[in-house]
Amino acid sequence: MVHSRTVAWSFPGAVPPVGARLSAVRPPTDPSPGVLTLASVAAVVVTWPERLTPSEAPDPAVLYPDVYGPNGGRVMGPVQAVFLKPLVQSPLTEVGDYTYYADADHPTTFERDNVLFHYGPGRLVIGRYCALAREVRFLMGAAAHQMGLSTYPFPMFGGAWLDQMPAMRGRGMKGDLVLGHDVWVGYRATLLAGVTVGSGAVVAADAVVTRDVPPYAVVAGNPATVVRYRLDEDERERMLALAWWNWPVPVVTACASLLMGGDVAALERAAADAGLLLEPRTEEVA
Ligand SMILES: CC(C)(COP(=O)(O)OP(=O)(O)OC[C@H]1O[C@@H](n2cnc3c(N)ncnc32)[C@H](O)[C@@H]1OP(=O)(O)O)[C@@H](O)C(=O)NCCC(=O)NCCS
Repeated sequence: MVHSRTVAWSFPGAVPPVGARLSAVRPPTDPSPGVLTLASVAAVVVTWPERLTPSEAPDPAVLYPDVYGPNGGRVMGPVQAVFLKPLVQSPLTEVGDYTYYADADHPTTFERDNVLFHYGPGRLVIGRYCALAREVRFLMGAAAHQMGLSTYPFPMFGGAWLDQMPAMRGRGMKGDLVLGHDVWVGYRATLLAGVTVGSGAVVAADAVVTRDVPPYAVVAGNPATVVRYRLDEDERERMLALAWWNWPVPVVTACASLLMGGDVAALERAAADAGLLLEPRTEEVA
């Protein structure tokens, strides 16, 4: 069942992009009078889903999945997370299902505020089930000035300086910026074009990622270095073989608590019970 009503409300940064489903817009839960102005108040029809039953997974095509607040409203906190797949517009950006960006003030301006200098040719590719904290920054390839005798970008301002454009051909050639699946990027982390972050990795708050990050590594600092691995080598291999982020969503839903736990063998058994094809694993005999 879907609720629908006409409301007048406004909140900064929450303007849905062209093409976004209106059902994806936040419900009108007590907008602060402080943010309402004559100029900004708009009457719109908002629809949003009723609370999900425990057997239903959220819809990855919905912009605001936590319309009742975190954990279906059971946890105190603002509505802040947006699923990025229905938000992104750039043909240079690809985001997988269920990857979210959390920002209580400006979640929907992610492409403008968090993906910088994204004029190509490099692409931003983010896998499924990634968690991006507030103020993460992706510095894309076009941020790179040509480093000749001068780094001043003469052609940028046109006129006779535009004729120098061929001299800028090297720009943006850092390559794609790729995040695997199930990557957690902490508050204010910065990632540079050309890096690949492996699935299951964690990027610490304020880290500056300049080099590739192995799967299931925790990296921190500037430049970011591996501070530890979340799993031992054997577990990492088994998790990458399971590749749970490719599973049908109902199986992921059924395994969500196992995924948040720490028992790889239990997850393997659940995957087998679900009929997922797994590489046979040879048990080591002590
Ligand atoms: C990445 C993070 C989760 C790692 O936590 P952890 O595994 O418990 O790591 P620890 O606290 O044991 O730290 C491990 C080492 O990394 C260092 N480290 C951890 N976070 C760091 C950071 N943000 N910057 C620099 N170094 C950091 C620690 O000092 C420690 O170094 P040491 O071994 O020399 O003492 C955590 O540090 C972090 O950054 N949390 C912020 C997450 C965030 O931004 N969330 C936003 C909401 S989604």
